[in-house]
Amino acid sequence: NHFPVIAIDGPSASGKGTVAQKVANQLGFAYLDSGALYRLTALAAQRAGQVWTDEAAVAELAMKLDVVFVGESILLAGDDVTVDIRSEFIGSGASQVAALPAVRLALLQRQRAFSREEGLVADGRDMASVIFPDAQLKIFLSATPEVRAERRFKQLLARGEAADLAMITADLQARDERDRLRSVAPLAQAADAYLLETSYLSIEAAVNQVLLWWYDKS
Ligand code: C5P
Repeated sequence: NHFPVIAIDGPSASGKGTVAQKVANQLGFAYLDSGALYRLTALAAQRAGQVWTDEAAVAELAMKLDVVFVGESILLAGDDVTVDIRSEFIGSGASQVAALPAVRLALLQRQRAFSREEGLVADGRDMASVIFPDAQLKIFLSATPEVRAERRFKQLLARGEAADLAMITADLQARDERDRLRSVAPLAQAADAYLLETSYLSIEAAVNQVLLWWYDKS
């Protein structure tokens, strides 16, 4: 497919979601939050009483995910799970089910189906390497572990959740390690991706850099 795609990958709490969404709004593109699909799969497994390590059972649930994205909200089997899927517990489950090859395969076409004639901004871990290898623009967002832990900490506090900086730091590290070291679609910067280090950049500056690269390409 040759519809316009901007692929944005990076580790947890690197700012991908915020930047990708704003770029999509500015350009009038659709937006794919691929991490949400892994989070939904983890939640669906939990609700079905399945353990996150049962590859066949979890892949089956991933294949059958009954999910609707309406604006900023996400419905799973008609149930609004927008807030539920953002918990640290489900985030950890998502990174466990995401390490299972059959689960990734089950979600492959569903992700590609987000492609639109007007364009798509897709964020995740393997948007550039696996899902949209022909993307016209590929970006790898990074930030130091300290900055990312701080961002996640503030996010949780803003949501009124109890948060402990040391625990978040340890959890992010465990999740990143699992994402980088897994055998299928490990998190890595694609050879043809631009590196955008956001530790000392405002959201606006990061968004503007992506837009500059995009206008440069098109
Ligand atoms: O980006 P987010 O934190 O919502 O993703 C949750 C988990 O889903 C990640 O830790 C990662 O393990 C997994 N994931 C993935 N591939 C993607 C997006 C997310 O493996 N494209």
